Amino acid sequence: MLVVGNDILHKAHQDGYGVGAFNFVNFEMLNAIFEAANEANSPIIVQASEGAIKYMGIDVVVGMTKVMSKRYSHIPVSLHLDHGTTFESCQKAIQAGFTSVMIDASHHIFEENLELTAKVVKYAHQEGVSVEAELGRLMGIEDNISVDEKDAVLVNPKEAEVFVRESKVDYLAPAIGTSHGAFKFKGEPKLDFERLQEVKRLTNIPLVLHGASAIPEYVREAFLKTGGDLKGSKGVPFDFLQEAVKGGINKVNTDTDLRIAFMAEVRRVANEDKTQFDLRKFFAPGMEAIKKVIIERMNLLGSANKI
Ligand code: G3H
Ligand code: 13P
Ligand code: ZN
Repeated sequence: MLVVGNDILHKAHQDGYGVGAFNFVNFEMLNAIFEAANEANSPIIVQASEGAIKYMGIDVVVGMTKVMSKRYSHIPVSLHLDHGTTFESCQKAIQAGFTSVMIDASHHIFEENLELTAKVVKYAHQEGVSVEAELGRLMGIEDNISVDEKDAVLVNPKEAEVFVRESKVDYLAPAIGTSHGAFKFKGEPKLDFERLQEVKRLTNIPLVLHGASAIPEYVREAFLKTGGDLKGSKGVPFDFLQEAVKGGINKVNTDTDLRIAFMAEVRRVANEDKTQFDLRKFFAPGMEAIKKVIIERMNLLGSANKI
């Protein structure tokens, strides 16, 4: 059943668990996410970036999600716009049927981020849609980073408190040291959990972790075994994800893990049978690989059996 984002995340915030927000760019990814949710008995957030919307068409994104949420009518699902860059982009998504949007103005100065976020919130709330915003910059932090450098990049908890109060945003993504993609940390993985706890204490709303892919060892191995190259790649370790949930993270954004798991299977089939050109022979195992990663993640984050 398609529900408003805050319906899912408010419960997660109250009960202290994390819900995976999984990106999709085609039917196969979306289907795998729904099948995993069905098996794990978990609520889900499915999300499309502006790039994914351009690739599929917004009518297909919404239409496919609505059909799947009818097929699995017992699963609470929210359709979320990932990293919306403008008011118009959020407005279009809401008009098309999204039930949650992110306005990502984190690269603007604080006042401009607040102003744009408040404008999106006002519109979205009139339409019964929830809003996410981001504070700080998404980038890995290194061991020898100074306090000043850290303060310049990561979320400022006091600013977060003001931002949430004044914008009335529903959930907030605080930068605590993660980054997008497969290369998150140069040295040892490091996240600022104290800062996260302080943001949670001062805002008391659902929080979002971007760049939350873990690149589990078996997923990396499967990709490498087929001749793929992921030299220097590093994800967020499982115990960090669990600590993040304990510290107040409720929405856990995951894309890279699904991409790598899927492509490892495509590569495997291509290597094993050079004569194969039936798309389904590549994509069916790809979907299974995504499903396995997601079910494991739902158990790790605590959203399994929360329906
Ligand atoms: O945060 C970014 C997501 O992984 C989506 O990426 O813009 O390549 O679709 P994309
Ligand atoms: P990953 O690249 O770690 O999967 O992060 C995805 C994300 O944050 C989408 O908004
Ligand atoms: Zn992101």
